[in-house]
Amino acid sequence: MRRVMLTGGAGFIGSNLVKLILKEHPDIHVVNYDLLTYAGNLVSLSDVEDNPQYSFVRGDVSDLQTVKKAMEGCWAVLHLAAESHVDRSILDAGPFLNTNVIGTQVMLDAARFHKVERFVQISTDEVYGSLKPDDPAFTEQNRLKPNSPYSASKAAADLLVRAYEKTYGMHAVITRCSNNYGPYQFPEKLIPLLINNAMKDKPIPVYGDGQQVRDWLYVEDHCRAIITIMEKGVSGEIYNIGGNCEVVNLELVKMLLAELGKPESLITFVKDRPAHDRRYAMNIDKITRELGWKPEHTLSHALPKTVKWYLDSEEWVGSVLSGEYKEYYKKQYGDR
Ligand code: NAD
Ligand code: DAU
Repeated sequence: MRRVMLTGGAGFIGSNLVKLILKEHPDIHVVNYDLLTYAGNLVSLSDVEDNPQYSFVRGDVSDLQTVKKAMEGCWAVLHLAAESHVDRSILDAGPFLNTNVIGTQVMLDAARFHKVERFVQISTDEVYGSLKPDDPAFTEQNRLKPNSPYSASKAAADLLVRAYEKTYGMHAVITRCSNNYGPYQFPEKLIPLLINNAMKDKPIPVYGDGQQVRDWLYVEDHCRAIITIMEKGVSGEIYNIGGNCEVVNLELVKMLLAELGKPESLITFVKDRPAHDRRYAMNIDKITRELGWKPEHTLSHALPKTVKWYLDSEEWVGSVLSGEYKEYYKKQYGDR
């Protein structure tokens, strides 16, 4: 049995990844290491909590002693835990630096100590900054030009991973993925926020002119890419991951409202996000050519499936939205 430590397993992508590994890899034991911040919810994992292939440790990625203990005997580390929301990083960058930068350094030190054979850093396309309408998609050669405290903290973490691989000869790879959608995403991000608001006939806040472009990937495809990279990724390499699916925000919002049977009059244009990246697009030739991964889901099929999941999972939505969410919502959208 291979032991894999997965940080952030109670979050959106992490919980989907835990379930996929347990379902398809009977030779892997998953140690889910998560602090359970506002974004981490064990209710997302209630169906696997008794699985003998699974264990959970509550802890902070910046706490070396607890990390070291949880990592004992692990063959690989999948490092997903992060503060992940751009808008929150604009309100307060502090937790982003602690978790995303110091937390990654601590994870790397523990992995070195235990001589872990694979370290996979889950990063983001946002480290590359923003594209103009006619620019070619980001490749792994693009310079790091982060524009938000969130993306700057992720870029810093990527550089630490690079430095540890070079300095200590650790086996380490970096993945950079575009926007994910699917079940168990916290309703501060565009798609679940929209569904939650629309179902209550509340306004849908669209930042600026709504003409920003994002590349969308179904979360299961991202999880399969991470597993492929853990198994076959070459140390020191960076792999872009994306959906080949660029969509203008306003178009996505309209698609979702149509799917929900709600009127476009709910759309409310609000003050733009500061330094809002205009466009992301990913060139995924390298991972396709070298590791044989490509996205399998299309937006036209997986978006309605996602909407249905949220409509059928009212109880989950209710259970993850605490008083903290109301406070955050007021701060974020109150004066816009
Ligand atoms: P999320 O916010 O849904 O979940 C983050 C998880 O990390 C939560 O379970 C939280 O409790 C945990 N966590 C936060 N701080 C912690 C700490 N100090 N110690 C231990 N655990 C802590 O995030 P997500 O959307 O699932 O993103 C996961 C990773 O993937 C992040 O590294 C993010 O940068 C990256 N990523 C996300 C996307 C996306 O579209 N969501 C795209 C590309 C990359
Ligand atoms: O690109 C990968 C990144 O995708 C990940 O690294 C981040 O962790 C993840 O949060 C996501 O970042 P975005 O900022 O792109 O996602 P978000 O859902 O916050 O916003 C998507 C787009 O929608 C973005 O252009 C901002 C816009 N938006 C968002 C919200 C929450 C709105 O117009 N209104 C909103 O209320």
